[in-house]
Amino acid sequence: MTPMTCIEDLRAVARRKVPRAFFEYAEGGAYAEETLRANRADLARIKLRQRVLVDVGDRSAKTSILGEPATLPLALAPIGLCGMQHGDGEILACRAAQAAGIPFTLSTMSICSIEDVAGAVDKPFWFQLYVMKDRGFIRALIERAKAAKCSALVLTVDLQVLGQRHRDIKNGMTVPPQVRLSNLIDIATKPAWALSVLRGKRKTFGNIAGHIKGMENVNSLSQWISGQFDPALNWKDVEWVAGLWGGKLIIKGILDVEDARTAAKTGAAALVVSNHGGRQLDGAPSSISMLPKIADALGTDIEIMFDGGVRSGQDLFRALALGAHACLSGRAYIYGLGAAGGTGVARAIEIIKNELDVTMALTGVKSVAKIGRQNIAAI
Ligand SMILES: Cc1cc2nc3c(=O)[nH]c(=O)nc-3n(C[C@H](O)[C@H](O)[C@H](O)COP(=O)(O)O)c2cc1C
Repeated sequence: MTPMTCIEDLRAVARRKVPRAFFEYAEGGAYAEETLRANRADLARIKLRQRVLVDVGDRSAKTSILGEPATLPLALAPIGLCGMQHGDGEILACRAAQAAGIPFTLSTMSICSIEDVAGAVDKPFWFQLYVMKDRGFIRALIERAKAAKCSALVLTVDLQVLGQRHRDIKNGMTVPPQVRLSNLIDIATKPAWALSVLRGKRKTFGNIAGHIKGMENVNSLSQWISGQFDPALNWKDVEWVAGLWGGKLIIKGILDVEDARTAAKTGAAALVVSNHGGRQLDGAPSSISMLPKIADALGTDIEIMFDGGVRSGQDLFRALALGAHACLSGRAYIYGLGAAGGTGVARAIEIIKNELDVTMALTGVKSVAKIGRQNIAAI
């Protein structure tokens, strides 16, 4: 097999191995996908300052994230239906992240439940929360995350209503896949994927199925979920969640300086500058274009994390240079998962780590704390 030398290689294999509806679910963005493209294009425009003859013999990418040691400034982002890219995807990705020494985030919309993942790994992970209309369910979900000893709660705030992804509608993207001849033919040509999903612990939303009365079958569950996103959500709900949780809180989905200032006042430990990977407000600016403005406004008031378009160690370096303390990886690790399960996730992390290391060396930086705007080339 040809060696996987970059994230794009993993993406190409995932595209062959994962049924089209699920691959495009991961790949796609909202509406015309302008923001999705801007995330990547704006990162690529940032040029790095090459420095030579600096002794970088003892450089290190080690850091701490929310006060916990991490081998590099990276965490795996919450991904809904992760377990549909590969059976037991959440467990495999969590194990790969923990083996690599970085945090993993489990989505509310995961296939494996909080309890499944907690029972299969030996270290705490982060749990991502969508606050739904059924606050009793949310209260119970927070309790479940506490009982599973999750070490941080990632509260996603940019999904009060759903941005439309044209590709998902056209592909009949449902869980489990809609029974259409085209989908069946597609799945029949992906036997390794089918086997992994068949053998996986679950085939539906693990955190929700069995926890809502009357929602035993998959169709009513999907309808329940789509009616549950809450357009009335507001900053008071953040206080409510913070009070119930009582632990480290990360607010994810901040793209505006004013919102960032409000987030910093909530007492949250961190915020994530993010546009949900271009999957929500199409026409919003790229995350990287907003990062320096938010970093300048907040200083050291709150830990600033970043996501959107990170596909390499060079991208990670760019975000650190513009004010991020750490990045979340979304699609990059999902491509690895689709390509080769847990081994693919481990490879994705390794690729980014090696690229970051070489980038640090060639920009003359020895520690991630020292990466800053001085490392951006003035052109
Ligand atoms: C397939 C997919 C599913 C996602 N599901 C969730 C989710 O359940 N919760 C959430 O907070 N963010 C979700 N996101 C957003 C990611 O956490 C992250 O913000 C985004 O992927 C970062 O951009 P990148 O994919 O370019 O790295 C999802 C993203 C993708 C691609």
